[in-house]
Amino acid sequence: MNARFQGHFITAAIAAVIVLLIDQLVGIDFTQRNREIFTEMVYSKAGEPFARNLALPGGRTQQPLVEGTVIRGSWFPEFGPGADEAQRAGLELKSPFTEQDTNARERGAELYAIYCTVCHDPAGKGLGSVVQRGMLPPPSLLASRAMDMPDGEMFHILTYGQGNMASYAAQMNPGERWQVIEHVRALQGK
Ligand code: HEC
Repeated sequence: MNARFQGHFITAAIAAVIVLLIDQLVGIDFTQRNREIFTEMVYSKAGEPFARNLALPGGRTQQPLVEGTVIRGSWFPEFGPGADEAQRAGLELKSPFTEQDTNARERGAELYAIYCTVCHDPAGKGLGSVVQRGMLPPPSLLASRAMDMPDGEMFHILTYGQGNMASYAAQMNPGERWQVIEHVRALQGK
């Protein structure tokens, strides 16, 4: 072993000892995640919506919506609720889709399975599972009223609800409402 090599060897040995010492001091356990030093970038300080937050008005993280706020794209001011307005929507609103839009029909079928089958059943006859458990059956979507109903009127019903059926505006955005109507048309053989 020449003197130069010996020198390197000693340096390396000292370095190894220092590393081991630091390792002992910091207590690194390689079976565990590393010790975290600056955690702010890792863990967001964003408040949970329902958590207390003394920095904000009312001590709440989630602030009330500004009056008049609507979901983007859901603004539907041209029509009010009710059957007359539904009929007017039937005359004035046109679906952005046609039966050639197979994507719209496929997505509509998924949405129908999620939101509508429980009452209207997969075929649209109105014999869904909640009806089998005692709810009054909805009218069949294959009956003449729904068959002859313009798309726009159906859109209005999905937006505002009708009688016992609630609005689906919170569950489906306008595009999805038109898509589900496409599926109703497919069920009707249109
Ligand atoms: C909780 C049960 C329920 C669900 C879920 C439901 N509906 Fe209805 N639907 C009804 C009832 C009940 C009526 C009849 C309302 C009335 O006129 O009193 C109705 C009426 C309708 C009508 C009007 C039919 C007519 O002849 O007047 C259409 C169209 C319709 N529903 C489509 C849908 C679509 C599309 C969905 C899914 C997005 C859906 N419904 C989800 C219960 C439901």
